[in-house]
Amino acid sequence: MPGSAVFRREFPVKGGDFSKAGTVACRIKDILKELGLDTQTVRRAAIASYEAEMNVIMYALEGRVKLAVSPGKVRIIVDDQGPGIADIKLAMTEGYSTATPEMRELGFGAGMGLPNIKKNSDAFHIESQVGRGTRLEFTIHTNGHKP
Ligand SMILES: Nc1ncnc2c1ncn2[C@@H]1O[C@H](COP(=O)(O)OP(=O)(O)OP(=O)(O)O)[C@@H](O)[C@H]1O
Ligand SMILES: [Mg+2]
Repeated sequence: MPGSAVFRREFPVKGGDFSKAGTVACRIKDILKELGLDTQTVRRAAIASYEAEMNVIMYALEGRVKLAVSPGKVRIIVDDQGPGIADIKLAMTEGYSTATPEMRELGFGAGMGLPNIKKNSDAFHIESQVGRGTRLEFTIHTNGHKP
């Protein structure tokens, strides 16, 4: 991308709507491909945004995914209105999940979403207020732009 141009998009996510599962992550993947980003960056951003989108669908009432692409990096912010997370350290633990039996039936609830977001990003931040909601921010540096 030329100069310091920033490409921004925002997508709403509705809690509980499994029929739309992965829609936003797919849009993001297509956009990043179209912008000509390298395949590894596209793949990492798609995985991380998919997991964040699914968590809003599974646990929150509603949320937004904000995408900002600038030279060298992809930044994604996902915030939601929902129950929040009381113990973030526990939620970040591989295998920890409060997914319902119905969600597990659909193949979710491995407790790997948040750890995978962290793994697939170069910077990751999560904050949450119980009874209010959760906010994730993660950045992926494009190939050749490692800090
Ligand atoms: N946006 C959110 N709002 C409220 N709770 C959340 C949110 N995201 C995650 N959590 C809590 O953190 C736990 C761990 O999340 P994580 O994404 O790692 O695993 P999971 O969603 O349970 O399973 P998987 O992602 O593997 O399908 C969840 O089970 C849930 O209790
Ligand atoms: Mg998850």
